[in-house]
Amino acid sequence: MNIDERIANTHFPLPAIREVNQSKHSTGISLGLGELKNFEVDDQIYSAMCNSWKNGGAAYTQNAGLPQLRMAVAQRQQEQDGHIYDEENVVITVGVQNAIYTSIKTLKKLGAKRILIPSIHFGIYKKIPAEFDLEVHCYPLSDDFSIDTVGLEAMLLPDDIVIINSPSNPTGIVFSNDHLEELGALFRKKLSNGYVIADEIYGALVYDGAPFTSFSKYFDRTIVADGISKSGAVAGLRVGWLITRNKQLAKAFTSNNASVISAPPTVNQYAAIPVVEGKTQNTISRYNSILKANRDEVVQLLEELNIPYNLPRGSFYIFPKLDQIVGTSTKSFCMDTASKENGVVVIPGIAFGAKEYIRISLATNQMKEALIRLKKSILNY
Ligand SMILES: Cc1ncc(COP(=O)(O)O)c(C=O)c1O
Repeated sequence: MNIDERIANTHFPLPAIREVNQSKHSTGISLGLGELKNFEVDDQIYSAMCNSWKNGGAAYTQNAGLPQLRMAVAQRQQEQDGHIYDEENVVITVGVQNAIYTSIKTLKKLGAKRILIPSIHFGIYKKIPAEFDLEVHCYPLSDDFSIDTVGLEAMLLPDDIVIINSPSNPTGIVFSNDHLEELGALFRKKLSNGYVIADEIYGALVYDGAPFTSFSKYFDRTIVADGISKSGAVAGLRVGWLITRNKQLAKAFTSNNASVISAPPTVNQYAAIPVVEGKTQNTISRYNSILKANRDEVVQLLEELNIPYNLPRGSFYIFPKLDQIVGTSTKSFCMDTASKENGVVVIPGIAFGAKEYIRISLATNQMKEALIRLKKSILNY
């Protein structure tokens, strides 16, 4: 086969999230989104973008990103974990997806062989390592979606890469500080040569007094991946970053990513500064009140229908177990409900490695109507 024949014969399957979203009827309501799409964007983000045009906004930045933004990220991380950081510890990326991609690519080039990811996970945790021929292993979670530390310990090798994600997509769990401490102790004992990649993209979106603390406080060999897609409600600006205590590793990230992106978009990096400096906190608090109110409404329906769930306290998802009602795989239920007139989009758990569940996004201003529809769909299925 030549290249053209291979192109013609290759199938590019849509991820389940896209597949279900694409089958949405024009009258449907989406609870399938992974972004705060219709949420207000803080004016300071706009102002920072606009002002940047007079301030070099149309020029390249350094490959590692805008020094002011990197310094702001370093200071914020220092407040989280008490370690001293500066801009050389920080690499700005094109969203958190690019951050995770770059960290995995770099660690593979440095000799990593295996990556451990949660059994219920955001899809790219499996897809990216597979592109680099890393062995991917899923570690078990407990019933409440925290990490089963005994199960993880049994499989952990000293030079593994481990991805953790709290607050989590899709489960909504926020790990307690005790749990983080327990994990830190396990990694200090067993992960002498490996790294933890802590995906903390939902760190600002917590409610009910949930205690977000960066995992780097508990384990030095942590690479933090974070960004403004969720906390700024600006997923389309594509700004994320990596933070590591090892400046030489940060250089390796920069070098490996520069061949792909050269540098992140300058105007958008300026836009991120007020978010990182905490100036948009009032807006974020408003998001969290809306998310909590929406969560409470979903929970009321789940209770009424006797559907098992764990109460989320962060990110903007809830992940109930629906197999008893719609069958072991929830995918056909989701496709059916999405494509109906006056239907609703929810994402099948198979997209996250757990086919008995569905993911409901709390990021909507139409929750009441969406739940009336969801209830009808479940009862009539
Ligand atoms: C857990 C998690 N990590 C990373 C990302 C990717 O973030 P970004 O849009 O900044 O690339 C997402 C997006 O949904 C996510 O849910």
